[in-house]
Amino acid sequence: MPARKTKLGNVTAILGSQWGDEGKGKLVDILSEKFDIVARATGGANAGHTIYLNDPENPGKKKKFVFHLIPSGILNQNCICVIGNGVALHLETMLKELALLKENKVETLNRIFISDRAHLLFEYHKEIDGIEEELKGAKKVGTTKRGIGPCYTDKVRRNGIRVHDLFNFKVLEEKYRSNLNIFRKMYGKIDYDFEKELESLKEIAKKIKPMVIDTAYFLDKALKSGKKILLEGANGTLLDIDHGTYPFVTSSNATIGGVLSGTGIGATKLTDAIGIMKAYTTRVGGGPFPTELKDKLGDEIRESGGEYGATTGRPRRCGWFDAVVGKYAVIVNGLTEINLTKLDVLTGLDTLKIAVAYKYKSEYIKGFPADTDLIDDFKVEYIEVPGWKKDISKVKKFEDLPKAAQKYVQTIEKLIECPITSIGVGVERNDMIFR
Ligand code: GDP
Ligand code: IMO
Ligand code: MG
Repeated sequence: MPARKTKLGNVTAILGSQWGDEGKGKLVDILSEKFDIVARATGGANAGHTIYLNDPENPGKKKKFVFHLIPSGILNQNCICVIGNGVALHLETMLKELALLKENKVETLNRIFISDRAHLLFEYHKEIDGIEEELKGAKKVGTTKRGIGPCYTDKVRRNGIRVHDLFNFKVLEEKYRSNLNIFRKMYGKIDYDFEKELESLKEIAKKIKPMVIDTAYFLDKALKSGKKILLEGANGTLLDIDHGTYPFVTSSNATIGGVLSGTGIGATKLTDAIGIMKAYTTRVGGGPFPTELKDKLGDEIRESGGEYGATTGRPRRCGWFDAVVGKYAVIVNGLTEINLTKLDVLTGLDTLKIAVAYKYKSEYIKGFPADTDLIDDFKVEYIEVPGWKKDISKVKKFEDLPKAAQKYVQTIEKLIECPITSIGVGVERNDMIFR
């Protein structure tokens, strides 16, 4: 496994710095070797974090894991995984992931803890997600239909149901039925066997009871005993409910504050914040995308990068690297370093473009625009840099990359004003250059 040249501090966050799917899962898996705990803090099963490992039973073959709720540190046996209070938790999805891990002989006993405060995501949330998208018509967000928005809406509206409620079934049932009544009034008939879901919760509660703890207290104790915690972000900065391309965003804070409030770790404890950025840009779902390539080149990048959603399988929209987005992510997250991923995907292109500024009616936009309705009318300014042809997928040292690839990385680094400390050149653990 490649090794970092410098040590990370005790509380390190890994944050998606574009529109998600930057490659968070892979970096979390690699770094988890040096951490005692990996914690998820935000989002739910809208996330899809991919990890490839060598398959011990089929030498030369790779095994793919996609995690939606279980933290990506789970494949490292020495790592404890925590699902924090900020997660919208669909228990059945989590149990399916646990079963898959068992099938693959990954021991999870005493290795996963769930916050007693996490909000439960039920089937009705998914139904409502679908109904709301339909109501929005042409303006639909293009959600993953995993019920994320409706679950966080309940949380903020203060009628959410939390993990601890599972252990007082009478109260849970009351809350569940009361929610159903509200939703029937709001949305009419909702088609689902609610009695079956309610009943299934009794069994599920028994299964997960040993994993449920006060995770904020647990993490604090761990830190006090010198343990190291890796915070695994979900989604991405431009999908953040406050800082993203609203309303085409998810419903939680995918930026740095979210991983703190979503675990109960105090902001003053954070030591490092690593932003993950693809060497180009992708987005899945609706919403503005200034550097999108709607031509053959966009299709080519999609194919060579395997850009299909890890959660929904939808084709991801592809475009050039956007340094306006990158710089914005560095600012709103206070990023201390960057992992640039998928540089290998750009091999073979004659020239590469990088967006450096947006202009609206001959005026340069400072920062990132709030009014996303205007973005389609922006003129995007690019610089062009030469590409490279040599295969870089086996390169281990920055100095061994073709000069043009080195220059591409250095140009991005300068534009976004943050050091790029690692570069992804393939899907596996070993395919990472540490500088
Ligand atoms: P996440 O949601 O941020 O964890 O990212 P996803 O798993 O949704 O999507 C990233 C995809 O890119 C996955 O299929 C990864 O296996 C793959 N990937 C990550 N890093 C690299 C890289 O450096 N090169 C290539 N070719 N693929 C990568
Ligand atoms: P990871 O963690 C990419 C997008 C959806 C949609 C919008 C809102 O794998 O990077 P939601 O279901 O959250 O209400 O959808 O956000 N989205 C993601 N896109 N990667 C993700 O997660 C995403 N999570 C949400 O496609 O546009
Ligand atoms: Mg993903």
